[in-house]
Amino acid sequence: MDYSKLLNKFSTPMYLFDIELLEKRIKYIKSCFDKDIKFIYAIKANTFILKQIEELIDGFEICSFGEFEICNNLKLNQSKFVISGVNKDFDSIKYIFENTNKVVKFTVESINQYKLLTALAKQYNKKIELLIRLTSGNQFGVSETDFEQIISYSKNEEMIKIIGIQYFSGTQKKSVKKLEKELNYLEQFINYIEEKYKIIIENLEYGPGAPISYFVGEEFDELEYFKELNNMLSKIKNRKISLEIGRSIVASCGFYLTKVVDIKSNQNGNILLLDGGMNHLVYYGQTMAMRIPYLEQYPIRKGEVNHYTLYGSLCTINDILIKNLPLEDVKINDVFIFKNVGAYCSTEGISLFLSRELPKIILKDKDGNFKLVRDNIKTSNLNFPYVEE
Ligand SMILES: Cc1ncc(COP(=O)(O)O)c(C=O)c1O
Repeated sequence: MDYSKLLNKFSTPMYLFDIELLEKRIKYIKSCFDKDIKFIYAIKANTFILKQIEELIDGFEICSFGEFEICNNLKLNQSKFVISGVNKDFDSIKYIFENTNKVVKFTVESINQYKLLTALAKQYNKKIELLIRLTSGNQFGVSETDFEQIISYSKNEEMIKIIGIQYFSGTQKKSVKKLEKELNYLEQFINYIEEKYKIIIENLEYGPGAPISYFVGEEFDELEYFKELNNMLSKIKNRKISLEIGRSIVASCGFYLTKVVDIKSNQNGNILLLDGGMNHLVYYGQTMAMRIPYLEQYPIRKGEVNHYTLYGSLCTINDILIKNLPLEDVKINDVFIFKNVGAYCSTEGISLFLSRELPKIILKDKDGNFKLVRDNIKTSNLNFPYVEE
């Protein structure tokens, strides 16, 4: 990557999402699975690349009204929308009905939600397709009993078509055994429902929580993981399978660039202060800044190796990005490029703390051009006590 071109044009801190890498990644993931498996992108992982991946992806999982607005304002194909999420309120469903042409696909997370969707579907004369989300034992989805209840309720509903089941039990799941257990459980449960209610549960939308290797020395065999998952899925007959994935699709296209603004030492060691920090950069599984994420120093320097701890710019002792990193001849204005930050990083940080600006977001298109898709955003406005006159 030509960091000098990027850094001449844009100041740090910033996120960079590389569209060419992202396209390659999606094609690679697809190549690891049978052709008939569909891919639903969980847009919460990154909403800045949606238009660019629309043709490569079979659907968009949308979990809030805000996410719906993003997709709709981008004029994404509405037949790819799966409106999901625990809090679907009257106003947002109404808005979605009024602003969608085609039959809308929803997930249903509770009996109350089912009743609300049904009532509004009738009121607005809108047909909806439902995936019932089965819980994995947390606040999401319905119990087996409620699942059956919804099936019974839906029997004579003209506007509602139950098209399948949605299941997601967590992210960054490295154990193939766990996936196997979940898929066996789902098959048993679906067979039971189909026999008892004489219906077909046509679709299984499954979120495997496919993991990303974030830290040096913690690599895992992704190809083997995908192969085993594909084998398990290919044993499921007579059902359309979709994999609902966020992190694994988008993490590797993302870079976060932050520069050294100060260097000093004290009784605790060598300190590097960066213009970014934990408000912008969250690595799933990082503990006490002990693990080393994949990163580069720019420019590359040669010289004496010293160990430094990398701190961010927040007024909290917790704002440490990496402890004891060996570095050669580091200088003020050197830039660190953190890798694999394409999923969740730009939204999971405590970005309003200390009223620091949100970083800009750049997309690198397939011709190598850098495009600003979000400028820095001042957060002092958001932390300001506006008073009605
Ligand atoms: C319902 C649902 N599906 C899919 C995902 C995406 O998970 P991941 O990013 O681990 O693929 C999430 C993440 O929270 C989710 O809640």
